[in-house]
Amino acid sequence: MNPDVKAFFDDATFTVSFVVSDPASLACAIVDSVLDFEYSSGRTDTKSADAIVAYVEDKGFDPVWLLETHVHADHLSAAPYLQERLGGRIGIGEKITVVQETFGKVFNEGTRFQRDGSQFDRLFAEGDTFEIGALRGRVLHTPGHTLACLTYLIGDAAFVGDTLFMPDFGTARADFPGGSAEALFASIQKLLALPDATRVFVGHDYKAPGRDVFAWETTVAEQRMRNVHVGGGATAEDFVKMREARDRTLGMPKLIIPSLQVNIRAGHLPEPDDSGRRFLKIPVNGL
Ligand SMILES: [Fe+2]
Repeated sequence: MNPDVKAFFDDATFTVSFVVSDPASLACAIVDSVLDFEYSSGRTDTKSADAIVAYVEDKGFDPVWLLETHVHADHLSAAPYLQERLGGRIGIGEKITVVQETFGKVFNEGTRFQRDGSQFDRLFAEGDTFEIGALRGRVLHTPGHTLACLTYLIGDAAFVGDTLFMPDFGTARADFPGGSAEALFASIQKLLALPDATRVFVGHDYKAPGRDVFAWETTVAEQRMRNVHVGGGATAEDFVKMREARDRTLGMPKLIIPSLQVNIRAGHLPEPDDSGRRFLKIPVNGL
């Protein structure tokens, strides 16, 4: 059984969220949702998430899973908001605990911040399976961009997060704490070994030279042949050299500081302080 897939593109962060639905029932999953955040005012907005809510309600879908491919560094997750509005369980990779440990230290979160993944409803490991109605999902651990990155293989559709991008753009950066260009290359080989016709849905798109429209769907065969970083049999050595050189030129994502603090909590804002208000921190020279 293969899923129907509806994409939602957030042009503020170039993120693609997906509603993955079972053609045989009303069950669906929502992958990598976005809570809008305006840095200059410190305000959140649910406009992006509400578009998903409207679609799901219009179709009469029942979300059973709210899946995160990883702790995003460029947008806030709307999973808790969607859970409140629509239901579903929030899932992420089991290595989230290591990511929580790393960034718990960076943001000096203190002992109230649990680093055991308990903010999430399900921690997935390599090979785990899950159901969306009659659809069967399988989990691939695909570290490299971050340590905890997962690919969700649902029927013939792979949701690869920030592992592979569109073939003409290449791959994701691997220089965040816990990232590794070697690991990313190995994870990508795992994805390229999937059947040729596997649909590949990427977590971001930034257009590419010669392409003026956003795109997010391709296939394993296309990636293997044409991906500008790993296609045509690129070697691990060449890839790592290219990826590390390129990553040295990249600035930090605009929303990395708020994103990490929220996403290590499964998309929840930090607890209110003694004034009853919620704050995000900026570690000065800390990232
Ligand atoms: Fe990411």
